[in-house]
Amino acid sequence: MTRKTIRCGIAGSGFAARFHYEALLRVFSVKADITGSYSPTREKLEQFTGPRKLKAYDSIDDLIDDVDVVHVCTPPSTHEPIVVAALEKNRHVIVEKPFTGYFGDGSPSFNGDTFPREKGLREALASAGRMLEAEKRSRGRIMYAENWIYAPAIMKERDMLRKTGAQIIRMHGEESHSGSHSPSYGQWKFSGGGSMIGKGCHPLSAALYFKQVEGLTRTGDPIRPVSITARTHAVTRMPGYIDQGHLRTSYTDVEDFALMHVVFADGTFADIFASELVLGGVHNRIEVNTNNHRTICNISPNNAMQAYTPDEKYFRDVYIVEKTETKQGWSSVSPDESWFTGYQHEMEAFCRAAAFGEPVESNSILAADTVAVIYAGYLSAEKKGAEVAVTLLPGRPA
Ligand SMILES: NC(=O)c1ccc[n+]([C@@H]2O[C@H](COP(=O)([O-])OP(=O)(O)OC[C@H]3O[C@@H](n4cnc5c(N)ncnc54)[C@H](O)[C@@H]3O)[C@@H](O)[C@H]2O)c1
Repeated sequence: MTRKTIRCGIAGSGFAARFHYEALLRVFSVKADITGSYSPTREKLEQFTGPRKLKAYDSIDDLIDDVDVVHVCTPPSTHEPIVVAALEKNRHVIVEKPFTGYFGDGSPSFNGDTFPREKGLREALASAGRMLEAEKRSRGRIMYAENWIYAPAIMKERDMLRKTGAQIIRMHGEESHSGSHSPSYGQWKFSGGGSMIGKGCHPLSAALYFKQVEGLTRTGDPIRPVSITARTHAVTRMPGYIDQGHLRTSYTDVEDFALMHVVFADGTFADIFASELVLGGVHNRIEVNTNNHRTICNISPNNAMQAYTPDEKYFRDVYIVEKTETKQGWSSVSPDESWFTGYQHEMEAFCRAAAFGEPVESNSILAADTVAVIYAGYLSAEKKGAEVAVTLLPGRPA
């Protein structure tokens, strides 16, 4: 049987472009024809496209014209224009996290530390609203590349919620590591914030998704967030921080720690931590406490494989796990990181959605809810943790 072909083009040629490409190579239910990539710096673009024998497009418009699906693997500040342009041409979009945000007023004096958070919330919601409107007018769909939703541990808990009819009482999630590699991360005008949006978006979206699933299973109505209490800190920018070189410290105007306490419409809650302050590799997990079971979803590290070496020189050519500082001693090896993180599964699901019209679990409503909670969180943090109501955009998860 011949498989249906989906033509995929990648906007961006950095870290996310690479893992989208790798995941697309392993899609099996359709033939993913990866046509090429576009990014503004020709030399870097060709470093990505050359070894992979991909076309280096001259413009984002040329890429959009040539494909069925546009992968948006570019800095957050560029997501909205690329997504809207692709949807206007009836293309599907797979857009990386965070969906969108507020990136300042374009003035050179813009400072992420000091702008009024009310304005950030208003503008971030407006941006998400424009993307949702563009989707309504398009034959293309938004697929929000929140890989946690497709991570096997999260998918398994989703099934458990459906089969047990459980009520989630409280959740406790975290995404942390020692700092993002991307040069544009850490400047609010590109990233739209720090740890709360850059890392917290992952466990937050998982928590929002679980409460949607719970509500849809038990009553047919998704349970949505209603308020947030949040705090942020910029530890590596404190004058008293003693830098020993193990954590990234080059953030200009964003936080490197965030705590979110999110309350849902049924009174239950999730506590989400996110930071750039954790050594020892990526720390990605969510614990779900329900009235009939408890799960701990360890995305990274997990104990699928553990390895020991007395000297890291032996593991020089061995990939162990994302962001570990040393390979010496005991390590929690991720034997197939793309599998555990959900990169593999999201790409399979998105290609199936594009080819056969299957439903999108991580859709534009989940993406917009995540933005709404996070920017209400920034307003709460400005008020030193006062509770702030979450305003959701129109639309409902199905
Ligand atoms: N899901 C995950 O686990 C995960 C991990 C890392 C990054 N991301 C997300 O992926 C996105 C990209 O991050 P990254 O780490 O790859 O950053 P990066 O800095 O490594 O790469 C960004 C790329 O975008 C290109 N670019 C910039 N402006 C562009 C434009 N207007 N049009 C086309 N290309 C443009 C740059 O030239 C570069 O090639 C971000 O939204 C980030 O949050 C997600």
